[in-house]
Amino acid sequence: MVLCICRAVTDREVDAAVHAGARSVDAVGACCGAGTDCGACRDAIAERIEDSCAACPRRGTQDCRSGAGALASASR
Ligand code: FES
Repeated sequence: MVLCICRAVTDREVDAAVHAGARSVDAVGACCGAGTDCGACRDAIAERIEDSCAACPRRGTQDCRSGAGALASASR
């Protein structure tokens, strides 16, 4: 499903960016472009980040929001 219409980015591409280390809407945007135009999708991106972090088995064991991770590997 296309999540960001302006940049034609799917929910799976956003999830890939999050799984690769993007922990903010801006970081997701830097990785795949989602949310970098009109901004209408930014709340949906933030929701996917929160859902992903809530389900992460490493939650609470490290500050996963501080690292850049392997963002380059998630870009298109
Ligand atoms: S719909 Fe994502 S920036 Fe416009």
